[in-house]
Amino acid sequence: MPTDARPAAAWPTDALSFGGDYSPEQWPRETVLEDLRLMREVGVNLVTLGVFSWIKHEPLDGRFDFGWIDEMLDLLHANGIRVDLATPTAAVPMWLHRLHPEILPQDEFGHPLAPGGRNGFCPSSPVYRAFSLRIVEALAEHVADHPALAMWHVGNELGGGNARCHCPVSNEHFRRWVQHRYGTVDALNEAWGMSFWGNSYSSFEEVTTPSSKTAHNPGQLLDYERFSSEALLDQYLAEKAVLRRHTPAVPVTTNFMVGLGPDVVDYARWAPHVDIVANDHYTYGPDPLRHQELAFSGDRMRGISGGGPWMLMEHAAGAASWHAINQAKKPGELIRHALAHLARGSDSVMYFQWRASKSGTEQFHSAMLPHAGRDSRIFRDITTLGGHLGRLAEVTGSTVAGAQVALLHDNEAGWALKSGLKPTNNPVYADTARAIHSALFEKAVTVDVLPAWHDLAGYKLVVVPGLFLVSAENAQAVADFARAGGTVVVTWFSGIVDERNTVITGGYPGAFRDLLGAWSEEFYPLTPDETVELDNGWSGMRSSELVHAPDAEVIARYSSGDVAGYPAVTRRAFDGGGSAWYLSTDLHPAGLAEFLDRVLDESGVTPAARVSPGVEAVRRTSAAGSYLFLLNHTATEGWAEASGTDLLTGHRCEARVPLPAGGVAVIRED
Ligand code: GLA
Repeated sequence: MPTDARPAAAWPTDALSFGGDYSPEQWPRETVLEDLRLMREVGVNLVTLGVFSWIKHEPLDGRFDFGWIDEMLDLLHANGIRVDLATPTAAVPMWLHRLHPEILPQDEFGHPLAPGGRNGFCPSSPVYRAFSLRIVEALAEHVADHPALAMWHVGNELGGGNARCHCPVSNEHFRRWVQHRYGTVDALNEAWGMSFWGNSYSSFEEVTTPSSKTAHNPGQLLDYERFSSEALLDQYLAEKAVLRRHTPAVPVTTNFMVGLGPDVVDYARWAPHVDIVANDHYTYGPDPLRHQELAFSGDRMRGISGGGPWMLMEHAAGAASWHAINQAKKPGELIRHALAHLARGSDSVMYFQWRASKSGTEQFHSAMLPHAGRDSRIFRDITTLGGHLGRLAEVTGSTVAGAQVALLHDNEAGWALKSGLKPTNNPVYADTARAIHSALFEKAVTVDVLPAWHDLAGYKLVVVPGLFLVSAENAQAVADFARAGGTVVVTWFSGIVDERNTVITGGYPGAFRDLLGAWSEEFYPLTPDETVELDNGWSGMRSSELVHAPDAEVIARYSSGDVAGYPAVTRRAFDGGGSAWYLSTDLHPAGLAEFLDRVLDESGVTPAARVSPGVEAVRRTSAAGSYLFLLNHTATEGWAEASGTDLLTGHRCEARVPLPAGGVAVIRED
């Protein structure tokens, strides 16, 4: 079977998957037996096993011992728990570091990382590749026929810690990659604009990874990000090919880290290579809008998985341990966060990890079973959640269909934005995207966060927020959408550069200038506490521009700051009923909400349900039914308009669903 052909039985469990990373190697046997009892008690049906177990499988070079994994697979199987088995390649054994110190990744100064930790390998290293494939081969061959094996989990968070390597092997690999991409040195010099500062190459031999503190060449930096992503993908594909050979019917995935972006590797471009798109998501306690950030990530996951169910592979039952202050989840948040991932299309609720570790780096990271044991708020919530998931079984396989709004996102745009110097440095790629998503979240409008090349047919509104890099083809698709009757919102710093990270000249935003009927000649970035007023009462932050609107209606002008009197918000109407709006600044929330009301109104976009402020509403549907997820993220009583049966309680609701403070409901609609 070709490695990209998907096996038929793709999902690892019959119903929603529930469980987490499980590291029995850290515990004595009696604890493991207790784990299995408690897992059964709360309804765990899937665990991720063996993520860091290379040293257990191969304690010495070439000496394999699979006794431990055999016993664990048997025990889990006997307890009705399916296994998402990891290839252990994230945990390079110390003996391998001793034998081959050259496999360690190097930073931009040529310093190797210290052995230990995880992902301590150069993605381009042929030595690491050979050793890693040897253990994958031995493991896959050994467990191929075990009935507990339900899914493969390649490595762990590929690129976490080792994504940008500058060792000699990576330099050589990068040179070959660049040569393959550009063919001739002249083409390379042209693409990267090497005549600037007289940096032109005369041979590919002169190309290096971009480690200089002074060059900041945007084209080179962007290509290095692409190269690094592809080097890691090669490792994934090499492991996957071995797994496919031994277990052609077992789905293969790896855990992504999809957040706001840009991500460490290009997940939307990796997605076709995984059988199930899986994500690790961790909220940041001090973020008051963490539930909205979670929703953004879920909406992105759906875009990356092509709309179908995706897998929440890891999240936290309580606090993480890598933030400055690691806040516990607020009362009710464990359940709300789990259901929020389901609402946005996940068919699983998985955690890092089942039992909290006593020692090691993450000894204070929360778990489904905390240090305190079962007599704890977390475990009681986990028990309640397990019950909820059982009652939600019929939701399995349904999808969040029919979103009317598409918001375009591209990792390459984020990478391009941080590659090289900009009007405002250290920009955050998804700030504008998140602000607009957040405002739509407040209006209970479902948004598909889509890769920039996604088909736009069927949407009513397309938002292009700070999409710094865009290809001519993708820009054309947006323009065609507006000319065919759709509504488009383009914001500042979209369509500024092409795929080489080269500015599209003739007035910003070059890629969308014709569509918008408006263009800007100069950026006027704002300091963090600076605000510009608009003449209709709105105000802007972060950036302003000197805009001309020869072919667009001016909706609002700047009334303060250096560009007072010039257009700030414009709208171009098309004969077919479509329109293209330009937002040349980030509106403060009140103005943004009004702006979006107008845009939603004219495009005919409707919310998933009418709700009280702060209630999240998302609908999943299937041939079997329509399920409205309602999550009250506020500390006061709320409501939503819906009729049906709450699957969590069995209660009927006619027209209006009351939602206690922090409460949740999943309504099977009439
Ligand atoms: C990541 C990793 C896990 C664990 C968690 C919690 O998602 O994949 O192994 O380290 O973070 O920190």
